[in-house]
Amino acid sequence: MNENVRAEIYDQAKEWVLKAGEIIRDSLNEQRIIKSKESKKDLVTDVDKKIELFLVKEIKRTYPKHLILSEEGYGDKEITGNGTVWAIDPIDGTRNFVNQKKNFAVSVAVIHQGVGEIGFIYDVTEEFLYSARKSEGAYRNDKRMGDLEVKRELEEASLSFNHELLCESDEFDRYTMERITNKVRLVRSKGSATLEIIQVAEGLSDGYIAKKLSPWDVAAAIIVLNEVHGIATRANGNKINPFEEGTIFVSNKGIHKQIVLNYLKDWQRKLI
Ligand code: IPD
Ligand code: CA
Ligand code: CA
Repeated sequence: MNENVRAEIYDQAKEWVLKAGEIIRDSLNEQRIIKSKESKKDLVTDVDKKIELFLVKEIKRTYPKHLILSEEGYGDKEITGNGTVWAIDPIDGTRNFVNQKKNFAVSVAVIHQGVGEIGFIYDVTEEFLYSARKSEGAYRNDKRMGDLEVKRELEEASLSFNHELLCESDEFDRYTMERITNKVRLVRSKGSATLEIIQVAEGLSDGYIAKKLSPWDVAAAIIVLNEVHGIATRANGNKINPFEEGTIFVSNKGIHKQIVLNYLKDWQRKLI
């Protein structure tokens, strides 16, 4: 993507993301309409829908040729990897939004010809806006984020897992997570994939392992992580196709290879 086009879209998107955050903040103490989707754990609220609709309308009005991949159904149905695609999660961490009224974020990514170009993550209650433009660095509000320190000792590492990893599964070998947990110093789960990747990008956590994540859960945060030289792959070390659902393993450079080779590479059972 041309640098000037990227700068123009960045400025525009920043305005919309901040506005989205303001709408969410103003509605925090109102009565919520909460519905379950596929399961009782998979929630959507009136605010998730309102924010997605707001962002989709603004994008379509301003950039009618761009496509939108989003969680709550207001985006496009058919997405090819060509052209410019926005990946939007209006609220990542909806269960936190409902139960805690914090630890959630608005996540917006712009992907051009399959390459992540712009990422915004807005931690609404902390009022931290994380942003990045490809090859131009990452920022928390106006402060540039530093390069990730390369840590190598797994015994000192802090990791986070997502809820889904601890659920029963025929597809994944559950002892892998126990082996990793035994090895590292601590394991946490914050409940928002976006904010967990950002914690890695900020050096507050050394890695995040998760499964069943959709493109909108991770796209923007990976763009930020790339700018501080973190690594994001599928759990088995494979490259991520930004338009597919899957596992994820993000970390600093020091421990990525060790964890993939010693634990995650064969984690997925070979299904016959
Ligand atoms: C979820 C959160 C959660 C992760 C789930 C995601 P949502 O997104 O990121 O941490 O474990 O897999 O679906 O539903 O809150 O947007
Ligand atoms: Ca999400
Ligand atoms: Ca969501």
